[in-house]
Amino acid sequence: MLSGKHIVVGISGGIAAYKIPQLIRLLTKAGAEVRVCATHNALEFVGEVTLRTLSNAPVYSEVFAPENNRATEHISLHDWADLTIVAPATANIIGKMANGIADDALSTMLLAMNKPIVVAPSMNTNMFLHPAVVRNIDTIGLWDNVTVMGSPEGLLACGDTGAGRMAEPEDICLIADKLLEPQTLRGKRVLLTAGPTKEAIDPVRFISNHSSGKMAYALAHELEKRGAEVTIISGEVASEVRRRANDCTIIDVTSAEQMYAATTERFSQADIAILCAAVADYRPETAADRKIKRSGEELTLRLVENPDIAARLGQLKQAGQLLVGFALETDNAEQNAQDKLKKKNLDAIVLNSLADKGAGFNTDTNKVTILLANGEAMHYPLKDKTEVARDIAEVVTRLSDKLTSLPL
Ligand code: PMT
Repeated sequence: MLSGKHIVVGISGGIAAYKIPQLIRLLTKAGAEVRVCATHNALEFVGEVTLRTLSNAPVYSEVFAPENNRATEHISLHDWADLTIVAPATANIIGKMANGIADDALSTMLLAMNKPIVVAPSMNTNMFLHPAVVRNIDTIGLWDNVTVMGSPEGLLACGDTGAGRMAEPEDICLIADKLLEPQTLRGKRVLLTAGPTKEAIDPVRFISNHSSGKMAYALAHELEKRGAEVTIISGEVASEVRRRANDCTIIDVTSAEQMYAATTERFSQADIAILCAAVADYRPETAADRKIKRSGEELTLRLVENPDIAARLGQLKQAGQLLVGFALETDNAEQNAQDKLKKKNLDAIVLNSLADKGAGFNTDTNKVTILLANGEAMHYPLKDKTEVARDIAEVVTRLSDKLTSLPL
């Protein structure tokens, strides 16, 4: 939802200011327009020319700068802005915010700002833990339009290790993105399966597939942004993928049987279930309890069928619950997906085919067709998985609106 939005980036004088050019790049890459308002101290840490070039606009740092058309130009940023980010937010600027002090361009702009503000504190651990700073952060955290981000522990620029690090630019972007999204799924509980399953052969080997979880976690982020309460039943995925679902509940599983148990157990409490995991259809009949050694002979693995989570949820589904599956195909794609839609009693199925370059497993892009139980079919071009997730979330929102507007 950053696309087309107006974001003011307020920079105060902390060493983490060196990360702000990256934040501006991420925001503009996502389609946002950025204006920068910086303190004099901030400009000691990061160059005005860099900020001006990346934001493609003048940097507001003077109340009475000759290039400001009017002396109140920096204040009128509240008319222009959809959201403001204060990063890094030093103890000083947080103190000014909390106490209504306006003595430079940034603090004056912030005092006039009545739109959402994201504050990313950044300071030395002792400062961060000082009672005055704790009180000031608590004060602004109570305001309706302010979201204060956590300050993770880690190595600080001053050489200390502890709390007070600025949140990473990617995480600041995720929060901004979320705050700008209309809450169309508020109150909906979503159960989402994600990633691959692993079926043990012995303690060191397993059968699995290439699912990275990128599609499912992009979807989790998109649904959560719209106000849904998302629980992910997740196979193993990389930490940078997992990070996209900061505010979701994640239940870790390994095998298809574990995923089946965790999903069926929670389904009755869900309004919506979306099955994006690549679940192994078969598992070794027995897993050896010791590493299988070479014997110089052929080894035959006997496989047995795993339970089908989607089909079971299709049987358990009650009126008012929405069940969405995925279909990963290589051939005869649409017909196979239609068959799965019917057989598993789904309300919709998201088809992706490995025959399409850039679609399916472990890519950042996907090309999907969404088929509805009423026969409707929506074809989409190849897109980034974050955009595909948005398309799927739109359809899910529409279907769930229909279900809840049905007479009881
Ligand atoms: O994770 P990525 O790298 O981003 O890749 C995304 C993806 C390709 C994994 C994803 O887009 C996708 O297609 N997921 C479903 C993969 C799959 O297993 O499709 P299927 O056609 O075999 O299964 C049909 C449906 O039944 C799916 O919703 C699947 O989750 C479900 N299923 C399958 C088997 C099983 N035992 N239980 C199930 O619930």
